[in-house]
Amino acid sequence: MSGRLSDVWLDELRSRSPLEEIVSEYVPLKQKGRRFWGCCPFHNEKTPSFSVDVDSQLYYCFGCHKGGNVIHFVMEMERMEFMDAVKYLAERAHMALPERTADPGAHIRAAERERIYEANTLAARFFHALLWQDEGAGALNYLYRRGLTDADIRRFGLGASPQGWDGLVRYLRDRGFADELLVKAGLAVQKDGKVFDMFRARAIFPIISAQGHVVGFGGRAMGDAQPKYLNTPDTPVFNKRQGLFALNLAKKERNLGRLILVEGYMDTVSLSRSGVRGVVATLGTALTEEQARLIKRYAPEVWVSYDGDSAGQKAALRALDIFDAQGVRARVIDYPDGMDPDDFVKVNGQTGFESLRKYEATEYRLLRARDGLDLATQEGMTQYAMRGCAILARVKSPIERENYLRALASETGYDRETLLQQMGALPAAQQPVRRTLRPRGAPQAEIPAAERAVLTLLAEGAVPRDMVRAEDFSDGLARRMAQWLLDGGSANALVAQIEDDAQRDQAVRALNYAPIPEERDGALKLVQTCLRTIRRGRLSERAANIQKEIQTAGAEQKRALYQQMEAINRELDG
Ligand code: UTP
Ligand code: MN
Repeated sequence: MSGRLSDVWLDELRSRSPLEEIVSEYVPLKQKGRRFWGCCPFHNEKTPSFSVDVDSQLYYCFGCHKGGNVIHFVMEMERMEFMDAVKYLAERAHMALPERTADPGAHIRAAERERIYEANTLAARFFHALLWQDEGAGALNYLYRRGLTDADIRRFGLGASPQGWDGLVRYLRDRGFADELLVKAGLAVQKDGKVFDMFRARAIFPIISAQGHVVGFGGRAMGDAQPKYLNTPDTPVFNKRQGLFALNLAKKERNLGRLILVEGYMDTVSLSRSGVRGVVATLGTALTEEQARLIKRYAPEVWVSYDGDSAGQKAALRALDIFDAQGVRARVIDYPDGMDPDDFVKVNGQTGFESLRKYEATEYRLLRARDGLDLATQEGMTQYAMRGCAILARVKSPIERENYLRALASETGYDRETLLQQMGALPAAQQPVRRTLRPRGAPQAEIPAAERAVLTLLAEGAVPRDMVRAEDFSDGLARRMAQWLLDGGSANALVAQIEDDAQRDQAVRALNYAPIPEERDGALKLVQTCLRTIRRGRLSERAANIQKEIQTAGAEQKRALYQQMEAINRELDG
C-alpha cells in the first residue's frame, strides 16, 4: 500500500502526526486515562463511542467498529486515497516527500520483472510439454478424467509439474536463470540452503495477465495432497488480489456485454469449453475492489457465478456489495442443489447454462433473505418483510424501488405504506450513507469475543507470553495478529500493514475489547477464562469432526476414532 515510501519514512510521518491532535480538528475530544473520547465522525451518535488510544496511536469506534491509524483517519475523513492522505499529513508535519522520480532502483526492478516474465513463460512451456511425456501422464489423465480434451488443454495452456524435487529448477538453471530469481518468481522455494520446485506433481493452470504475460500458476493436486490448489505467492509481477484467471482470453471476446465471474480454475475451463464466453475467476481469495474495477474495464456488467453451496451464496452477497460500491452492474446465478458451475455444465451443457435465471442484485438479496425462514408462519413472513425493507432501502432508483416494494407487499401481505414506514424507520446505521470514498471491502468473519479479549490484553502487555500460543486463535487474521504480538511487534505496526479496510477494522476491534479489568489480577483471570473457552471450543470442534468421520469409517478405524473421542471427552470433563 505504501508504494515507494519506506517504512522508516512512514514511521517518522506517523510519529510527527499525533492522532489525538488530528482528530481534535474534526471532533472535540476528552481525555480519560490513556484514551481520548469523542463522538464518532463516521456515524451519527449523541454519546461518544469514538476512542483514540494515545499509546498505540490507533482510533476505534465502539459503535460502528471502524478503526485504524492516523493515515486511515485522514483517508476516511477527507475521502482521500492513500498517497494524498500521506501528502496532506507530510505538509502538516513539514516533512518533504522522499524524491520519487530520482529512484535509482526503478530500472533494476523493471529489469527484474522482465526476467521473471521470461522465467514464467519458459516454465509454462515446460509444464505444458511435460503433459505429453511419461512424467506428465498422471496429470494428463487427470485432466481427461475431468472431461477436458486436448483442445481445451491447449487453449488454456495447461500443464504438469514434475514428480521429482527440482525438475523445473534444473531446466531453468541450464538456461541461465539464477536460483535467487526463481525463488523471487515463486517458481522455486529455498529450504536449508537447497532450492526446490514450488510445484510438484500437480496439474498446472497458468495465470496470464490481460497484457499477455505469464504472471503465475495455480497447481491442482491430483490426489489428496494439500493444499488442493497451490498458487504462486505474491511476487514482483503477481498479486492475487489484483488479477483474474483467464482475463487474457475473456478480453478477446468482442461485444460480450458481460463477464462471468466464477470461483475456480476448473469452473472457468469447464464453462468455457461448454461454449460460454467471457468467464474469469478470482485467484483463491474473495473478490477484491481491485478485481471489481478490473472487471469494469472490460465489461459493463458481471454475472456472479459462484458455487451453489451456502459458502458460495454468502460470497455472492459480499461480491454484490463490492460491485455496488464500484458501480458495476451485477447479476447472480444460483446453481441448483449446491452444484458448482463445473458440475452444472457437465450435466446441463451450454443450453442449461443459458436457461439459468440471472438474478438482479436486489432480487438475489431478497432470495437470500428468505434463507432459514419458514414463510408459512407469520413470524417467518414478518422477518422476511423486515429483511426485505432493509434491502430495498439500499435501492437507489426510485422506480426500481417502487417495483420491488409492490412485489414485496403482495408477497408478504403488508401494505405498501407499512413497508415504506418500516424502511424509513430503519436505524441510521442501515441507511445507505456512504461517507467513505473508498468502499469498504467484504465484511470479514468476526473474531470471536474470547479471542479479541486475549488479543487486546496481549497488545497491552498484560499477558505473560508463554500463557498463549498462536494456535489458540482462529486461522487467519486472529492468528496472524497473535503471532505478531507474541513476536514482540507493536499494535500500531500491525495495523499499518493491513491493506484491506474491512480486515483493518476487524483487527482494531480485536485490539479494543471492552470491558477490560484495570488491575493485573483481573486481567489475568480474564485471559484464563477466555483461553479455557477457546481451547474447549477447539476440542468440541474436533469431537464433532470425529463424530462425522465415525459415520463413514470402517470397523478398524472406528475403534481408533472412538478412542480419540474418549480422550477428548476426558479433557473436556477435566
Ligand atoms: P474449490 O475448492 O471450490 O475448488 O475452490 P474447485 O474449483 O471446485 O476445484 P475442483 O473442481 O475440486 O478441482 C475454488 C477455488 O479456490 C481456490 C482455487 O482458486 C480454486 O479454484 N483454492 C481452493 C485455492 O486457492 N486453494 C485451495 O486449497 C482450494
Ligand atoms: Mn468449487
